[in-house]
Amino acid sequence: MRETDASAATHRLFFALWPDAAVRAAFYGVAGAIRKECGGRATAVRNLHLTLAFLGDVPVVRLPELHVLGASIRAPRFDLHVDALGYWRHNRIVWAGVSVFPPALSVLVEQLTAGLKSAGFRCEDRSYVPHVTLVRDARTGPRTVRAPDAEWAVSDFALVRSARGKGAMRYEVLRRWRLRSD
Ligand code: 2AM
Repeated sequence: MRETDASAATHRLFFALWPDAAVRAAFYGVAGAIRKECGGRATAVRNLHLTLAFLGDVPVVRLPELHVLGASIRAPRFDLHVDALGYWRHNRIVWAGVSVFPPALSVLVEQLTAGLKSAGFRCEDRSYVPHVTLVRDARTGPRTVRAPDAEWAVSDFALVRSARGKGAMRYEVLRRWRLRSD
């Protein structure tokens, strides 16, 4: 690859919580029931995650800055009780969320967002709603499907790349950092 090509390359990136297989399976079960009731497409089980901060297209040469930022985060581990469902009409997404927003999740999101802004990365200005996208293109919100009741012990967070391969969205965890408050 020529030098000019390398410097122009970008990755579509976001920071996220990446659940283990058991938590993903619980979400996927609910997603299947929602898809039956509301139509749409369930998120592939391997892709289920909760976004912390979405960056969009980032020049690959800036990846080391994101690694430094990830390593600088000081936030404690926490438990996330995913116990709610929501539907956004504007983008027809059915999502799983929380009725209690743990303070440690705020600490994590605020530190990441502040670090990204001060390093000059583009960041969403929308107010943050923690959610796991379960179904896209849903005709309606769920009426009879029971919300998940998942206890998710969150001990790390990840930098993730999203890429479209053969039509399907693929998420690749590039790096993970343990949560620590020391
Ligand atoms: P979504 O699931 O609600 O679409 C990768 O695209 C992740 O970043 C998804 O979880 C997506 O949320 C989230 N995200 C947040 N803001 C986004 C934006 N402006 N465009 C695309 N994805 C965004």
